[in-house]
Amino acid sequence: DGDVYKYYADGEWKKSSSAKTVAIINPTTRKTQYKVQACTQEEVNKVMESAKTAQKSWAKTPLWKRAELLHKAAAILKEHKAPIAECLVKEIAKPAKDAVTEVVRSGDLVSYTAEEGVRILGEGKFLVSDSFPGNERTKYCLTSKIPLGVILAIPPFNYPVNLAVSKIAPALIAGNSLVLKPPTQGAVSALHMVHCFHLAGFPKGIISCVTGKGSEIGDFLTMHPGVNCISFTGGDTGIAISKKAGMVPLQMELGGKDACIVLEDADLDLVAANIIKGGFSYSGQRCTAVKVVLVMESVADVLVDKVKAKIAKLTVGPPEDDCDITPVVSESSANFIEGLVKDAKEKGATFCQEYKRDGNLIWPLLLDNVRPDMRIAWEEPFGPVLPVIRINSIEEGIHHCNASNFGLQGCVFTKDVNKAILISDAMETGTVQINSAPARGPDHFPFQGLKDSGIGSQGVTNSINMMTKIKSTVINLP
Ligand code: G3P
Repeated sequence: DGDVYKYYADGEWKKSSSAKTVAIINPTTRKTQYKVQACTQEEVNKVMESAKTAQKSWAKTPLWKRAELLHKAAAILKEHKAPIAECLVKEIAKPAKDAVTEVVRSGDLVSYTAEEGVRILGEGKFLVSDSFPGNERTKYCLTSKIPLGVILAIPPFNYPVNLAVSKIAPALIAGNSLVLKPPTQGAVSALHMVHCFHLAGFPKGIISCVTGKGSEIGDFLTMHPGVNCISFTGGDTGIAISKKAGMVPLQMELGGKDACIVLEDADLDLVAANIIKGGFSYSGQRCTAVKVVLVMESVADVLVDKVKAKIAKLTVGPPEDDCDITPVVSESSANFIEGLVKDAKEKGATFCQEYKRDGNLIWPLLLDNVRPDMRIAWEEPFGPVLPVIRINSIEEGIHHCNASNFGLQGCVFTKDVNKAILISDAMETGTVQINSAPARGPDHFPFQGLKDSGIGSQGVTNSINMMTKIKSTVINLP
């Protein structure tokens, strides 16, 4: 059955016994582009079993050998950037150039993680007992970092390759095995990426990829007793997973409502450029997108005009043509965005452009004079629609930012670095960017969300540490 992509288990590409498939709809054509296997719970059990067995010997494989394989996979991934990027274009309507960038960035991330891993996992600690009251120098404690076991990785549709390898590479370098459940939109890109690990020659069972309906295998995977850690990036599902998961470490990144606070002394050309990049790249479908502008009233008119002029220059159309604004991932997503726009319209927001939609394609829209009673002031559209709230004091801006149930990132624009630091301290978000739009990268920086934006911290180093635990051996002297 050449039309249906196989899933990857035990070092082989397999057909599901379910004889069922899941269709991947091209967001641009709204027609079925690919089909993947709908794996059964029994198949998941088998994958878990082989992941568990394989991990035992993988943990004993020398660290430098694990790193060598990861470097190999990174090189193969970069070699195959064109066909993988093509899948990203077809499955998630990522603009062609950005799709290539995602794959290259992923290769770099895998290599960096291998390098970082050999350093931080090659070191342990040596402690002596006599620093704690009542102890003589009779106990020597040796610590090292050991793997957790089987890691379950669930990346989102917006970076199906990059946010998969940001979980795979740290898991594998640390001696874990990994089971990947890719998002439906993005599953074929992810399967191609997994093939690069296959070609690199990882032992069977170290990496597996199961595809299927969330409703059939989602809970089954996240509640599976064979899972020793879950690394998830996505939306509300993450909150549900954290309630159902067993006693395993969780790494979660669940979206945001990143605020852009603009002070009176800000370089407004710089702000406008960052609002475009931050708010509209990949049509706003990034957790770290600028999702609300909080601008001081005295500079609001000038800023809004500058942003409007830049929006007029954005190209809108298919991802194959590398347009700036491309169709959003699904019809339900487009409908949700439209609901937020209609609500803002009814409640009196100023439309800087006419609202326009064709299928899943939504033209970029700036909504001025948004007020706190509008849904768009608080909810994340995950689309090319950006609200502007005019503020009369810095405190008002900080208050709006902190009243959100999200706390991923935020940014502040001012030439006064002292003010910027104070505002950063006051903002309840995992990261604050001064004079630039929010962003996860460079990928070795810590990346974390407060409140409903997540659990734990990511970034290369933090992810390696998170996917290990400390093991001590204490030598007791006579
Ligand atoms: O939306 C996922 C989040 O990780 C964004 O990453 O690189 O666009 O800041 P980035």
